Amino acid sequence: MCGIVGYVGKRPAQSILLDGLKKLEYRGYDSAGIVVCDKGQLHLEKTLGKIENLERAIKNKNWQSTLGMAHTRWATHGKPSDRNAHPHTDCKGELVIVHNGIIENYQKLKQALQKKGHQFKSETDSEVIAHLIEENYRGDLGAAVRQSLSRLEGTYGIAVIHVKHPDVLIAARKGSPVVIGLKENEHFVASDVTPLVSHTKDVIYLEDGEIAEITPSSYHISTINNEKREPAINHVEWEIAEAEKQGYDHYMLKEIFEEPDAARNAMLGRVIPEEGLAHLGGLNMNDDEMREVKRIVIVACGSALYAARAGEYMIEKYADIPVEVEYASEFRYRDPVIDQGTLVFAISQSGETADTLAAMKEAKRKGARVLGIVNVVGSTIARESDGGTYIHAGPEIGVASTKAFTGQLTILAILALQFGRLKNMPFSTGQKLVKELKTIPQKIESILEQDKAIKQLAESYAQYKNFFFLGRGANYPIALEGALKLKEVSYVHAEAYPMAELKHGPIALIDRNFPSFVIVPKDSYYEKNISNVQEIKARDGRMIAVATKGDSNISNLVDEVIYVPKTLDLLIPLLTVVPLHLFAYHLAVALKRDVDKPRNLAKSVTVE
Ligand code: AGP
Repeated sequence: MCGIVGYVGKRPAQSILLDGLKKLEYRGYDSAGIVVCDKGQLHLEKTLGKIENLERAIKNKNWQSTLGMAHTRWATHGKPSDRNAHPHTDCKGELVIVHNGIIENYQKLKQALQKKGHQFKSETDSEVIAHLIEENYRGDLGAAVRQSLSRLEGTYGIAVIHVKHPDVLIAARKGSPVVIGLKENEHFVASDVTPLVSHTKDVIYLEDGEIAEITPSSYHISTINNEKREPAINHVEWEIAEAEKQGYDHYMLKEIFEEPDAARNAMLGRVIPEEGLAHLGGLNMNDDEMREVKRIVIVACGSALYAARAGEYMIEKYADIPVEVEYASEFRYRDPVIDQGTLVFAISQSGETADTLAAMKEAKRKGARVLGIVNVVGSTIARESDGGTYIHAGPEIGVASTKAFTGQLTILAILALQFGRLKNMPFSTGQKLVKELKTIPQKIESILEQDKAIKQLAESYAQYKNFFFLGRGANYPIALEGALKLKEVSYVHAEAYPMAELKHGPIALIDRNFPSFVIVPKDSYYEKNISNVQEIKARDGRMIAVATKGDSNISNLVDEVIYVPKTLDLLIPLLTVVPLHLFAYHLAVALKRDVDKPRNLAKSVTVE
């Protein structure tokens, strides 16, 4: 969602900010804006649509100011427009803010400020922050920001500039991430590390309720009550090249091709083949505590939720622990039962998803130990959980989650192994599982070799308006993931069902123009799945099968087959998902969609 980048230093800010905005594009946005502060004057430009529009609008400005900030907006309050884009100024045009998050009490504050004569220019909730700071400003910008923030309800990550403080940038956070980038004689502010890594790897993640006052040569972190903080400086491991396309047409394709590495990295140093064991260090639980877990609840959204659902099958089978997977967005509303033996996992690529965070807080409130399975290092979920594990998939830029999904599945398989071996799983099963897990990256690579064929297949299906995705057992969540991916990036309608559910109603839709993806590997459900395939065939349904290499029978029943290598039943999702990711990508490209930034979507959904 919205993105922030700010700079104070010795170099002209304009190009640093524009470059930073481009790195934030992946978050999803509908308008963009920039402001620099020069010799007691603000220079501000805001445009609807792509960053290129903004770039064009300021092309000849050549501002030399060394202080500025920029923003990409994803509309919540007020439609996307130049006027509603950030930055927002106060009445005098002396003070300017950018804001991520939602101010819940903005209407009340706005009315009070209007009564005092403040003139509002936008329909946003954010603008109220500028006017509130203006109202409280008596010459000390830090004090005015503090006083104003104490009046806000909701969430914010903000940055503030005032013309009377030409080398000061103030940033603050409550519920919406803010990172400070440190470098000699220059400092940065951003909503995540992506725009920072090309300048510096040393960062401070602001905590909720903290304010940073930064100048070119200093940074001062304190709380909203003005208590000084000594923050930890973190070193970002990501290389800038990891966040670039590296010759691929789209990030999504690059990231699908990184799925073998995502599986590899998630396993690295965590499985012990000779002992058939796994060990995820960051869980902060000893073996006895793990043995005492009686029930696992997993909260997540979107693809992360589907990974969790596949993980549910793995953990229940291998570790014999009941697992419930809950939509994070619904978790709070159903008064979930959390007892002593319940362990909660929150799965999130970004680590910033507001619904997942809220579910996690609710679980903690009820006394649960909450562990995170997260990709983005230093993200809120990673920091606010009681422990957990990083999937180490590297930066995922495409809005559609692909390699993170594979990383999440791998971690869930490792968890199943770790819990399983602490309970009843025999050594031989553990060894077999580790051995097979180790082959997964290579097996994914062999699927990726079929990219050309899958591209052709997707192109030949680009005219269809509806698809079913069908799977059984742990492949039902993969069907859900396949349908979600197709909808997200191609805007083609797709629905997923458990294979056998089709005959309970949806089969009425089947005809030659309604193709189905049937995930029918040679697992213990094969015969049952084939019966369902026969039912679709009997109704003249068009089918694409994802099947196990060597299954020659299947091609007599369906129109197209994509083969995946053989593996253990519960690891099959790690393979069957790959062709579905490729199919969604190529179909979207065939339809000329904006694959990496699909309409209406944001990479990290930071509002509930
Ligand atoms: C997946 O392709 C989506 N873009 C989306 O469903 C995503 O998985 C969901 O919003 C959760 O995000 P998170 O993993 O960052 O928490």
